[in-house]
Parts: sequence; structure tokens; C-alpha cells
Amino acid sequence: MSTYLITGGAGFIGSNLAEELLRQGHTVRILDNFSTGKREHLQSGTQLFEVDFTNLEAIKPAFQGVDGVFHMGALPSVPFSIEHPIESTKINILGTVNVLEACRLAKVKRVVYSASSSAYGIQPELPQRVDMPTDPLSPYALQKLTGEKFCQQYAKHFGVETISLRYFNVYGPRMNDTGAYVPVFTFFIRQKLAGQPLTVFGDGETSRDFTHVSDVVQANILAMQSPNVGHGEVLNAGAGGNITLNQVVKLFGGPVQYLPFREGDVPRSQADISLTRKLIGYEPKIAFKDGLREVLKSHGIVMIEE
Ligand SMILES: NC(=O)c1ccc[n+]([C@@H]2O[C@H](COP(=O)([O-])OP(=O)(O)OC[C@H]3O[C@@H](n4cnc5c(N)ncnc54)[C@H](O)[C@@H]3O)[C@@H](O)[C@H]2O)c1
Repeated sequence: MSTYLITGGAGFIGSNLAEELLRQGHTVRILDNFSTGKREHLQSGTQLFEVDFTNLEAIKPAFQGVDGVFHMGALPSVPFSIEHPIESTKINILGTVNVLEACRLAKVKRVVYSASSSAYGIQPELPQRVDMPTDPLSPYALQKLTGEKFCQQYAKHFGVETISLRYFNVYGPRMNDTGAYVPVFTFFIRQKLAGQPLTVFGDGETSRDFTHVSDVVQANILAMQSPNVGHGEVLNAGAGGNITLNQVVKLFGGPVQYLPFREGDVPRSQADISLTRKLIGYEPKIAFKDGLREVLKSHGIVMIEE
């Protein structure tokens, strides 16, 4: 059994990962400043370091005796990054370098970094492969991409094993309902429960590779434990699907209001997961409709079956 540190472990994805690592019998530490994370997301049995990773000195103790770090902490919001380019750069880039540096100093063996499919921007073809040129359309996308590059530098120069996993739109239990980043499903659920029309930005043909959080958790654990990676690899951690917002609102049912497309949003995304399969044995398990049905059910909403 190992000792793992999850930065951002009070957040949506981090708390799901903590739950699974504890279930597997590992020792789990959480580093979080609760800027978007929630105390009620903390899993019992974890050790909390309530610190801000923009402060290297303050975070150093959390890394002592740790075998691996999942760096999930970030301010994951495109609009926030456009409104606050300096603050978001400090958190998403300097924060990442601080975490890598703390790993180097504490001789942590491996870091799995939460990267983002937003790095792809607009691509001429789908699905998106990691060998395609990147096209970050927002400060957030650029910040997350820069994090990948720093991970590669730390693998190359400082002997810290690193892997970056590009997530596509993640959904599931403990999805954010307040704060800077609220996923589209949360808006739809809120609007549906309030009897309001669902608001779609653009013409609804925007597509996403919606990925259940349990599959992202699986990818993280495989990336942490696989002997085949650790040299700064970048891998997609999506479900491999291509679902339009029009398809999603149909499953919710009810009226829809179309609003102008939002600046910085990516029009289409879909992961090519063949390399992830090959290198770490990743296989997404939750089909989109099954995952959405479960999420809607937990809010008392019955999915419209076709
Ligand atoms: N949710 C998605 O669809 C998605 C898609 C692509 C990438 N990602 C990436 O996955 C990671 C996790 O995302 P999430 O959806 O769980 O977001 P989240 O907002 O729920 O979690 C982020 C966590 O980081 C913590 N944090 C932020 N700044 C911090 C700081 N300075 N010091 C310490 N802790 C800090 C927050 O309090 C929060 O608990 C992020 O790195 C994000 O960029 C998420």
C-alpha cells in the first residue's frame, strides 16, 4: 500500500479519487485551500493540509514521505481566466511548478497531473489525438497546457516521474454546483428543477466527450501505477464519445433557450483514447446514457429514454 497526496482533494474529481484510493487501502493526504473545494467533500480517513499551493514554503511538509502526488488543484474556469488572467496564471501555472518543486525536494517518485482537453482548441478533425498541434483558446487552456510542459521538464531534468492526463468534460457525483466552474449538467439540472428552459450557448451542435468521474479516477490510478509511463507522457482520459448539447437537452426533456456562443469555448471535442489504452490499459466503463441517468436520478429527475 502507498501514501498518496491529492492536491485539490476537496474538489469534485479529487474527492472521488480520494474515496477510491481509501477503498483500495492506501493512505491519502489532501492538500486544499477550499477556494472551490468543499469541506463536505473531504473523505473521512484522509489527512488534511489546508494550505495554498501558490506558497511553496507552506506546502513542503505535506510532501514528506509521499510515494505519489495527484496534482488536481486548479482554478478550472475559462471565464474566470479571461476575467482574471494574472490570478489564474498564478494558481494554474506557478501553483503547478510549486507542486512539482515540492515533489523534487521531497523525492516523490511520481506525479499525475490533471491536464485539460481545452489544450486542443479547434481541430480540423475528430477524435483529438495527443500528437495534434495544440490550440489553446483561453488563458485557462494555455495555463493547463503550460502545466504539461513543466511536468515534462521535471521528468527530463529533475528525475520526477510525470504523466499528464487530458480530461474531457467530467461529470458524476459531487459535480460542482457553485463557484467559478459549474459544469453544463449542473446548470441544466438547476433549470429543470426550477421549471425553467435549459439554456444552451450556441446552436446546440457543440459536442463534448462527457466522461464519468469514475473513469477519470481509474485513469489516474493506472497512470500512477503503470510501469510503462513516467517520462512526461501526455494521454487523453476521455470516454471517446461525441455527444452534442442538443442530444443532452433531449434526454432532459422540456423547453430550450439558445444563447450566443461563449468566448473561449471549444466547439467540438472527442478523445482518441487508443494510446491511453495501449500504455496504461485504460478502458472507460460508464456509457454516457447510464451515467447521465444515474446523475439525474440522484436529483429526482427521470431521463427521457428514446
Ligand atoms: N471537471 C472537468 O470537466 C475537468 C476537465 C478538464 C480538466 N480538469 C482539471 O481537473 C482538475 C480537477 O477539477 P475539478 O473539476 O475537480 O475542479 P474543482 O474546482 O472541484 O477542484 C479543484 C480543487 O483545487 C483546489 N484549489 C484551487 N486552488 C488552490 C490552491 N491555490 N491551493 C490549494 N488548493 C487549491 C480547490 O479548492 C478545489 O478543491 C483541475 O486541475 C482541472 O483543471 C477538470
